[in-house]
Order: sequence, then C-alpha cells, then structure tokens
Amino acid sequence: MTWLITGGAGYIGAHVVRAMTAAGETAVVYDDLSTGVAERVPAGVPLVVGSVLDGDRLARAFAEHAVTGVVHLAGKKRVGESVERPLHYYRENVEGLRALLDAMVTADVTRLVFSSSASVYGMPDVDMVTEETPCLPMNPYGETKLAGEWLVRAAGRAHGLTTASLRYFNVAGAAAPDLADTGVFNLVPMVFEKLTDGAAPRIFGADYATPDGTCVRDYIHVVDLAEAHVATARKLAAAPRGTDLTLNIGRGEGVSVREMTDLINEVTGYSTPAEVTERRPGDPARVVAAADRIAAELGWSAKHDVRDMIASAWAGWLREHPDAAPRPVV
Ligand code: UD1
Repeated sequence: MTWLITGGAGYIGAHVVRAMTAAGETAVVYDDLSTGVAERVPAGVPLVVGSVLDGDRLARAFAEHAVTGVVHLAGKKRVGESVERPLHYYRENVEGLRALLDAMVTADVTRLVFSSSASVYGMPDVDMVTEETPCLPMNPYGETKLAGEWLVRAAGRAHGLTTASLRYFNVAGAAAPDLADTGVFNLVPMVFEKLTDGAAPRIFGADYATPDGTCVRDYIHVVDLAEAHVATARKLAAAPRGTDLTLNIGRGEGVSVREMTDLINEVTGYSTPAEVTERRPGDPARVVAAADRIAAELGWSAKHDVRDMIASAWAGWLREHPDAAPRPVV
C-alpha cells in the first residue's frame, strides 16, 4: 500500500514515516510545514507541501502518488493555545479532518489511521483507563480530538471506510537526536530546560491523591508509538471495509512527576532537586492506559522504558543545546 502521512514532517510523524518505510510500506509525506521541518523527511520519501484544508491539493497528491491509505497526524496539539484559540483549533483539527475525509471519499481512498489523544478522557476517575472509559474532554484540544473520532466513525459507516483512532498517552523520546521534539511544552523538555538554566525543575502540585502526591502519567516512547502505527496500518490493510478500531497507546504503567524528575536528574548527570509549585489548572491526578485491547487486536506492546525515553530525548536536547551537560565539580 501507499500511505499518505499527514504531519509527516513533525516530531511524531517523522518517526511514523521511518517505521513505515523500515517495515516495507511506501510513504508520502503531506505537511504544511507550519511546525513540521522538511529536513525530517527521509531521502526517497516524497514531500508534498500543503494544508489538509486544501481539498484540491489533497486530491492531486492522492492521484499523483496512487495513495491507498492515510495516516493523519497533522494537527494542532497545544492545550493552552487551544483554550486561547478554539476557532483555530476546531478549524485545523476538525475542519481539516472533514476536508481530508471528503477528499478520501471522492478519491476512493478507504483506509485511515487517525491520531487521537488521551486528552479525550479528560479527568478519568479510574485507575486504568480503558477505551470504554467515558470521554469528557476538559479543553478545546481534547474536544477536537473527540469530535475527530466521531467524524471518522460516522464517515466510515456512511462510506465504507476502514478506520482506526489511536489515543496516544504521554509521548517522549526519539529514535535519533535529530528527530527529537524541539518544543518545550511537556514535562521532559521542561525539566531539561530548567536544569540547563541552572534552575530547579518544577513539580506542579504535590498534594494529589497519588502515592507520592504528584501526578501520575503513562509515558510512551515515540519509537514504540510509531511501531503501533505500522501494526495498525497492516491490520487495516487486511480488514474488511467498515472496520473501526479505537485503541489506547500506552504502556499501562504509571510514573509520577517526582519519579520522572528524579530519573531525569540521574540520566542527565544533574542533581538539582525539584521544587514543588502550585498545581497547574486542569491537570488530572492520574491518567494511565489499560493497554490490553491493542495487545489483543494487534499483538503490539511497548518495548522501551522511561529511562530510554529520557536518555534519547536528552541526546536530542544536547544536539540543540551543546552546553547543556552538567559541568563536573572540581
Ligand atoms: C499532555 C497534554 C494532554 C495530552 C497528553 C498526552 C497538556 C497540558 N496536556 O498531557 O492533552 O493528552 O499530553 O498526549 O499539554 N509537569 C510538572 N512540571 C513541569 C511540566 C509538567 O510538574 O515543568 C507535570 C504536569 O503537571 C503533569 C505531568 O507533568 O502532571 C505531565 O505534563 P505534560 O508533559 O504537560 O503532559 P500532560 O499534561 O499529562
């Protein structure tokens, strides 16, 4: 099959492209380069520069490259920004997906892997979040992902598409330093930034109802996440039309913010204790995936642990910040 990978020049997309081509699939990247980087697209993989809102550009890309399936990762993903710019987020994430589905139906491209998020669950009141846990997103970003899932399912039913929505938990790590996430919007890079600046990493609240009082998350290595896309794409390629899957992608293991800041210090060679600050509004105490369904459906499970994620992300950070390594004490 030939897979059009929207957002394939982004952090996660670039990993998905590599995993797909390494597995022998043909990939074409479709990216508007608003946050994606052309250099992340490997040699030999065509890059089509375009927006998913541009139906004509999509139609031409489908025809020119004989596309048979789509992995849709293009989208906006910053929670705080989504609160400030909901119209922009609904347009990019929901209208963009609608335009993509429209182009797919017209061109008879019938297979779609949709990048969703654990943010659809909001503040889940359960130890392990299954795909049946009620979805109550807490911000416009999560809403656009849930609306996207609904749209995928409805279009799939009406037009006989074969689809999957993958709910990513907390993604970290890199396959190589030049593929690392360059944004500083999540825990791991935010702690790196503090350490590099000679400041204490911050823990946003230590009075949660969790074992050490800090929030618990399910961190997943981006390389494992990319492999889950390959397994999903293969499943869809062989599945009857109309199949629709919704799958959590996590490790099923909770790690606290305190455990993360301790391990980041250890892996990077720093020893700067974290300081506890105010809670960040909207943070759930615990979000950990039940990862049984994806194991049963696809035979996929994560291989990399949190130490691998931190070490590979740190190698990427050092590439961007060559002076970041701690100075030896003499
Ligand atoms: C983020 C997204 C969420 C998405 C999820 C998985 C945000 C706000 N939320 O979740 O929508 O579903 O990824 O893709 O972007 N923390 C600190 N100190 C820091 C930075 C973070 O204590 O300097 C804490 C946070 O309070 C949180 C945990 O670390 O408890 C993880 O934070 P973050 O990496 O931002 O991800 P989430 O908010 O869990």
